[in-house]
Amino acid sequence: MKKLSRVLIFLSAIAIPIYTSSQKKIQNVHSGQYQMPYLRKQDKTTQLIVDDNPFLIMGGELGNSSFTSVEYMEPIWPKLKTMNMNTVLAPVYWELIEPAEGKFDFELLDMLVKKARDNNFKLVFLWFGSWKNSTSSHAPSWVKKNQERFPRIKDDKGTSHEILTPFSENNLQADLKAYKSLMKHIKETDANDYTVIMIQAENEIGMLPTARDYSSLANERFQENVPTELMQYLERNKENLVSEFSEVWGKNGLKNSGTWEEVFGKGSQTDEIFMAWYYSKYTNSIVEAGKAVYPLPMYVNAALNYPQSKPGINYPGGGPLPHLMDIWKAGGPSIDFLSPDFYFPDLKHWCDLYTRQGNPLFIPEHRFDNTVAAKAAYTLGHYESIGFAPFSVESSGNPENEPLGKMYNVIGQLIPIITAHQGQDKIEGVLLDKQNQETVFKLGNYEFKVRHSYTLGYENNSRNETWNMAGAIFVQTGEDEFYVAGSGFVVTFRNLSNPSLNVGILKVDEGRFENGKDWKIIRHLNGDQTHQGRHIRIFLDDYSILRFELYNYN
Ligand code: DGJ
Repeated sequence: MKKLSRVLIFLSAIAIPIYTSSQKKIQNVHSGQYQMPYLRKQDKTTQLIVDDNPFLIMGGELGNSSFTSVEYMEPIWPKLKTMNMNTVLAPVYWELIEPAEGKFDFELLDMLVKKARDNNFKLVFLWFGSWKNSTSSHAPSWVKKNQERFPRIKDDKGTSHEILTPFSENNLQADLKAYKSLMKHIKETDANDYTVIMIQAENEIGMLPTARDYSSLANERFQENVPTELMQYLERNKENLVSEFSEVWGKNGLKNSGTWEEVFGKGSQTDEIFMAWYYSKYTNSIVEAGKAVYPLPMYVNAALNYPQSKPGINYPGGGPLPHLMDIWKAGGPSIDFLSPDFYFPDLKHWCDLYTRQGNPLFIPEHRFDNTVAAKAAYTLGHYESIGFAPFSVESSGNPENEPLGKMYNVIGQLIPIITAHQGQDKIEGVLLDKQNQETVFKLGNYEFKVRHSYTLGYENNSRNETWNMAGAIFVQTGEDEFYVAGSGFVVTFRNLSNPSLNVGILKVDEGRFENGKDWKIIRHLNGDQTHQGRHIRIFLDDYSILRFELYNYN
């Protein structure tokens, strides 16, 4: 009898999906039926699987101090709902969960998770542990006040700063214990619901105000040889290293042993590589320990650097930046991916750098400006990203009219269609403004020429100095059938396999998905709305979904 109940407990714990005889999955029997969130390779793309389905994070990150009280969050939840977000990126603060060493307090966190769950949001937790924007401001007071035991970095003048050194085993063990407790608690309280779907380990790690740490622990390590583990990784991956890094290593003769300065030369680039290695090792240990308890996907994020700027001086050095990608991959094999935070322009440039070597793209932060709606569509389309989340989304004064919310509404309806076609060259995203008015791409047999809708000259603001950004996502669902969601574009077509054929528009429907699956037509578009069959368009202030079919004629 005992044995049988143990088997039953085991079976319920592994959460087997329940199927009817026709193999159709019964939903909502209880949420414990699902597997926990995980990353899955789908052809060329990496998908985040949540509740057994591919998921796109249409998210928003909270300002740093909002998730510290139930009362403060109360008016925020409805705002986020109004903006059609499905995921909230929220910090978990080391100082609040472990106010006294070894005494964990998850009461507040539990109340907040419950609120998120009641509001039907998923959560990505941001672990504000050893580092948050370089500093250790979120370390608990018992860590801050015991500098002997928890040593800090020192700059080149020997002055220490409120930044825990990554070279201290005590620092690592203290953070790691707290993180493991957090993961254990999430497992115990959330493994039937999976409200928490992913974790960001630390936040914008990076060395300031010098390129490297000059504490005695760091100095000792700096005199040692580059660890064999790193040298072997670089040797093994020599042909595939990112070009900026190969260049640094190559300039110094591609040496495969020696001290940091012997292998990479003297200068801040070497100081930064040295820091990146130890930051990545430290973070990897935390992630590995956390995953051993409860293996949610875990990633790291970076504050970007201006080109030609100096690590430590102009930007936090050694973080998970594109030119240090190889170091972070070598030192952080348990970290699932590296993510950029956007407070600079040049989104395409940085996304191109971050998607090298198969690194999945997820944008956990973007300044909450008037470009985010278009950029959400573009990054989910062009890079088939896991998701997008502007920073401090609760600051919206007008959530009903937020372009991001309107974009999330239309893209949200298309998630099953988008994810079913990922990794197969069937999806494209566009991002257009006055400087980039036009883009051309291929989907199936067709060439799409997409222009900013202001190029038509119909809209009032089209004579303005600057044009608000337009963005859309296109998905090919059949040989001649497509969906598009977004705003501010006009598209025309050419047949690529037989250029002598003309391409006509067979039909265009504007519609919406109901119950997540049933396509409901709102209106058939033709006449002036398609320029008498010549193009398909959505104006800049409109956000809609169109389904269209093309055909060919002589
Ligand atoms: C980037 C950080 O990751 C956020 O936590 C926040 O501090 C923003 N910068 C502020 O702009």
